[in-house]
Amino acid sequence: MKIVVAKNYEELSLQAANKVADIVKSKQDVVLGLPTGSTPLGMYKDLIDMNKEGKLSFKDVTTFNLDEYESLPKEDENSYYRFMWDNFFSHIDIDRQRTNIPNGMASNVEEECKDYERRIEDVGGIDLMVLGIGNNGHIGFNEPSSYFAGATHRVKLHENTIEANSRFFGSLDKVPKHAVTMGIKSIMQCRSVMILASGKGKADAIKKALEGPITPELPASVLQLHRDLTVIVDEEAASLLEKR
Ligand code: F6R
Repeated sequence: MKIVVAKNYEELSLQAANKVADIVKSKQDVVLGLPTGSTPLGMYKDLIDMNKEGKLSFKDVTTFNLDEYESLPKEDENSYYRFMWDNFFSHIDIDRQRTNIPNGMASNVEEECKDYERRIEDVGGIDLMVLGIGNNGHIGFNEPSSYFAGATHRVKLHENTIEANSRFFGSLDKVPKHAVTMGIKSIMQCRSVMILASGKGKADAIKKALEGPITPELPASVLQLHRDLTVIVDEEAASLLEKR
């Protein structure tokens, strides 16, 4: 595990963007796993700048998003589809056909989950998975639980997550109660994983994830077992870490 403690959010974002840029430049037809949320916004902005300045092309890059709400149309302002197109894909030279986001509107969600895994397999797996972390330690929508979930699957969102995400929906009851997410197995199978965390609110989850027991009660703790994990945190998110 490699832990990088950045001075602040700007530095964290640039470090994360540089890591993505390095792998995009070093491997043809690279496959990226991508998150939504507040944390990666700075990284996406830096990657957009690199693309606009002609330093980086996404033409041959394939992406798989981690998760999507169930029953939220693509066009909904809170769908992760909208998030990705508004904050990243529309601003870079990526081929639309190479972008993959779970379809939360699928009539057969179980089939959609299997198909998503098949698509990942068909391109040879994910080279670099970028993750954020929930303040309850979730990754993707893999919530604290009594077991580690396997492949892409349908989940019931925790109260804690519904509350955290209600800031985008205006009220608690507008937040979808279910989602589709890549599972712990799907994440652990990625060749490299990079997890990002910023701010005091994430310090406890980061400490437990990196220095606590490996338990499905804190899903991100499983990453301690990944053979190529990079953690990029700012000073505040790192503030409770003993080993740094
Ligand atoms: C987003 C996702 C979530 C977020 C996490 C942190 O696709 O899967 O696990 O990474 O909730 O969200 P932010 O970055 O908004 O604090």
